[in-house]
Amino acid sequence: MTYPNTSIRVVGGHRLQGKVVAAGAKNAILPILASTIMLDGETMLHNIPELADVNNMIRMLNALNVRTEYGINDNVHCLNTKKIKHLAPYELVTAMRASFFVAGPLVAKTGYAKVPLPGGCSIGTRPVDIHLKGFRELGIEVSFEHGFVELKASSIKGEKVRLSFPSVGATENIMMAACLASGETVIENAAREPEIIDLASFLTQAGAKIEGAGTSSIQIQGVQSLKGVEAYTVMPDRIEIGTYLIAAGITNGDIIVENAGLALNEALIDVLRKTGLCITEVDQGIRCQSGDALQAVDVSTEPFPGFPTDMQAQLMALLCVAKGKSIIKEQIFENRFMHAHELCRMGAKIDVSDQISVIHGGTLSGADVKMTDLRAGAAMVLAGLVADGHTEIYGLDHLKRGYYKLLEKLTSLGAEIIL
Ligand code: UD1
Repeated sequence: MTYPNTSIRVVGGHRLQGKVVAAGAKNAILPILASTIMLDGETMLHNIPELADVNNMIRMLNALNVRTEYGINDNVHCLNTKKIKHLAPYELVTAMRASFFVAGPLVAKTGYAKVPLPGGCSIGTRPVDIHLKGFRELGIEVSFEHGFVELKASSIKGEKVRLSFPSVGATENIMMAACLASGETVIENAAREPEIIDLASFLTQAGAKIEGAGTSSIQIQGVQSLKGVEAYTVMPDRIEIGTYLIAAGITNGDIIVENAGLALNEALIDVLRKTGLCITEVDQGIRCQSGDALQAVDVSTEPFPGFPTDMQAQLMALLCVAKGKSIIKEQIFENRFMHAHELCRMGAKIDVSDQISVIHGGTLSGADVKMTDLRAGAAMVLAGLVADGHTEIYGLDHLKRGYYKLLEKLTSLGAEIIL
């Protein structure tokens, strides 16, 4: 099934029930793929869903001469040819900010990288100053020319690097570059997201020496070279898992998400339990059962282990039909409430001011709406599932970026979605 870039129609009112399997985590796959620039030889990755963002990274690796392709059964094979190119194509970096992950591995492997500045996106300005400051502290020369960042280093030197904010991307980029540095690098105030642990586990299999991933202090002992990894299975996507938990809650349903565990989503699960949902670990994964009427809750997005900004839009859809007044404070991105305006088109009562949204729970009714970004897209689909009547949702390209077969999986649980 392909998603047309026109619209889908969600027919509200169906209770979702059954099992779905979570796919591999997009946000772990992207840096892991980028890191293969530093590996000598062949690598085989498993649990890699076909997503537009993953395809974009594969195109980037091929443009840099790391031969990369999908195999059968969600595998990706990478062959590092040792003839790495230095220039990351503009159209690939601007299509996806995470393409900037190639900067650290490229300069570490070859001593030189030329990567377009990624620029902002719909949810915020998203600069890369923290990445670049960290690179400079490792002895990498950073300069700007005609919209490109040029990185040069005859040798990268291990250093103590303190991040001004625990940026996920900066932690990953600096950690990757430090793998091939001379001496020890310590990243302080590092981001603690589970995807960083996954990247570190992958790099460790490649021969890197990394301690402390998942804590705010990561130590990396530089090594001379890294080898290909015969087989690595990427962690499950905690944001996809969370989206199905909310799908169960918003439809008064009962869903088991397989390939999932409570530990990846503690902050989210805490909040969902406060709304009245019953979430338990079962043999195959996590089960979410709805109980009595949904209750309002107040939430602030925070770096991990706090409530993830990538679940904020989906939670807002749920709170639109909860009893009472909820408050959501967005603290990671400066412009991540565009979905609130779309939800209001469906009858939601939300007051948005700056970084705070106040949601007055009630009911939703079908309307024509658009997806304004990836997670906002999921929120519109969730809202459509509970709305009265039909919801016509435009902008499906956003969903293709990061949700593997979302519409098919929801349909298999009982949703009525017309393509
Ligand atoms: C990653 C995730 C994204 C998630 C986000 C926050 C990937 C591919 N994407 O994005 O899904 O929403 O973490 O959990 O893993 N910032 C700066 N300067 C920098 C870097 C970041 O000011 O150099 C700011 C950003 O503008 C943003 C905040 O820090 O406001 C968080 O960004 P960061 O943690 O870096 O997120 P990403 O790695 O871009």
